[in-house]
Amino acid sequence: MTTTSPPTPPRTTRVAARTVALTRTFGAADSAVTALDAVDVSIDAGRFTAIMGPSGSGKSTLMHCLAGLETPTSGRVLIGDTDLTALSDKALTLLRRERIGFVFQSFNLLPMLTARQNIELPLSLAGRRTDPDLMAHLTTTLGIEDRLDHRPGELSGGQQQRVAVARALVGEPDVIFADEPTGALDSQSSAQLLALLRSSVHELGQTVVMVTHDPRAASWADRVLLLADGVVAGELADPTEDSVLAAMKGLGE
Ligand SMILES: Nc1ncnc2c1ncn2[C@@H]1O[C@H](COP(=O)(O)OP(=O)(O)OP(=O)(O)O)[C@@H](O)[C@H]1O
Ligand SMILES: [Mg+2]
Repeated sequence: MTTTSPPTPPRTTRVAARTVALTRTFGAADSAVTALDAVDVSIDAGRFTAIMGPSGSGKSTLMHCLAGLETPTSGRVLIGDTDLTALSDKALTLLRRERIGFVFQSFNLLPMLTARQNIELPLSLAGRRTDPDLMAHLTTTLGIEDRLDHRPGELSGGQQQRVAVARALVGEPDVIFADEPTGALDSQSSAQLLALLRSSVHELGQTVVMVTHDPRAASWADRVLLLADGVVAGELADPTEDSVLAAMKGLGE
């Protein structure tokens, strides 16, 4: 008897970023914390992915490793087809500058620079000019257009967060990683920011990966990845606020 294997389905989705057995530990052997334990995730290009999970489950560590900001203890991280763990420091810096935007959980704005200078800094380091139309579009959509000449210390937490988002988007990177980008925002500013991220994906074809604790924010995504104790504990396609809440309850949150 002959058997025929089923045809391989056509590959319709591109992968923007991926981890293979990614492990990250912190601290010395006797007191080591395993923040990520052999994690395999694949982030589809041109889609909006949310990452959720309890505090300490490894969300920020995963984002930092995916963006090449932190070095894995073992395993691999790929952006597109490029293995970050095989790159020199210089090549990694260039790749980050050209292809990745990152919104830090703690904003990481430089205190001596104005909001505008903070937003433009990564581009000027890369020897690129800011597109004035894009700058105007981002800062107006985010509602910070009249705060651009102020330093971070003169801005509210929510304004600083929106400056950090503008900084991540203004270089039009392939992949945008945003670590709790709505954490300091009221519901109206959150909705504006989420709509902006969504349009980056659905109109401009960028890839967005966003950590959030908020089921409503997660419902803007195409897919939710759930982390618990440093491993992937599940995922949801086309999440709604209710399906996200139910999944989080399942994790014991
Ligand atoms: N630089 C570090 N040194 C030591 N331990 C760390 C470090 N960074 C993270 N960890 C530990 O790794 C684990 C995962 O941390 P991580 O910041 O990734 O969690 P998280 O899911 O982002 O949490 P939160 O929702 O509170 O932001 C935690 O136990 C944390 O204490
Ligand atoms: Mg975090």
